[in-house]
Amino acid sequence: MKEERVLSGMRPTGKLHLGHLSVLENWAALQDKYRCFFMVADWHALSTEYAASAEIPGKIREMVLDWLSAGIDPEKSVIFVQSHVKEHAELHLLFSMITPLSWLERVPTYKEQLQQLGEQGKDINTYGFLGYPLLQAADILLYKATAVPVGEDQLPHLELTREVARRFNFLFGEKVFPEPQALLARVPLLPGTDGRKMSKSYNNYISISASSEELYEKIRNMITDPARVRRHDPGHPEVCTVFTYHRVYNPERVAEIEEECRRAGIGCVECKKILAQRKDELLTPLRERRKEYEGKKGLVQEILQEGARQAREVAAATMEQVRRVMHLSEGEV
Ligand code: TRP
Ligand code: SF4
Repeated sequence: MKEERVLSGMRPTGKLHLGHLSVLENWAALQDKYRCFFMVADWHALSTEYAASAEIPGKIREMVLDWLSAGIDPEKSVIFVQSHVKEHAELHLLFSMITPLSWLERVPTYKEQLQQLGEQGKDINTYGFLGYPLLQAADILLYKATAVPVGEDQLPHLELTREVARRFNFLFGEKVFPEPQALLARVPLLPGTDGRKMSKSYNNYISISASSEELYEKIRNMITDPARVRRHDPGHPEVCTVFTYHRVYNPERVAEIEEECRRAGIGCVECKKILAQRKDELLTPLRERRKEYEGKKGLVQEILQEGARQAREVAAATMEQVRRVMHLSEGEV
């Protein structure tokens, strides 16, 4: 029996891109060692997308299909949607009673995002947005997760989670919550097809579920070394995004490609074709798995239903303990 628990989550943003794929591979690798809970953070999404809530169900479905296609296995892990397990809301509320406002206001991402999203015309000067990291603490502690695979940007939220756990245990005189650690996996930095950060808003991404045609098209249009105008001009792989991709996806041939590029032995068209072929090979099993899950009507719903059921079991046990130490059990009145 896998005892130690891992929890991680993503906001439902719809189809995922290659930048997310290495995160999913890291998640998948944890499944045999830990009891894993992978959560769709739809309430977190509402903190910024409350005016577009109609789009969330479709985005959940697409994202979960990407998870499944990348090898997140419902036989091994608990895959669920946050809002299906109401205990998250209860624990968040109780935490909100004991969390000083200053702890939330000083989370580095808070003021930054407030301003950034404000400039995009989103008013997130809300109670819910301020509480975003506290809801995340509730997500993690509800399952008493001891390890949380996250990117570096989430470290302040993990730090807050530990502080909340400590304060709760101290105030109510019992060690209810462990202090979870971040599992920082190495994720290769993959730029977008134009060399900038890969992002939906720049339209420079490649979807995990891209078809062969889409994949070849996106790679064909990638920016290369701008100094390489003619076929016989020697190239500079260090400034070329195609080369960065070879480094990540084609380690066996990267040395050869570097050399051939520098001596103009290979042209960019050919170089891109090699990359596209390689990437296509790597994505084929994912496409097949996606098709299987997509093909069976109601399967995604079933997986999420079963996931929520299993999550609820653990969540209910934690909440019973929480209510007891806080003197909130019905029997006490
Ligand atoms: N805040 C995380 C993100 O933006 C998503 C998230 C919500 C999460 N709850 C979590 C991550 C709990 C890890 C654990 O990606
Ligand atoms: Fe980039 Fe390849 Fe062209 Fe060299 S040959 S500039 S690595 S695309």
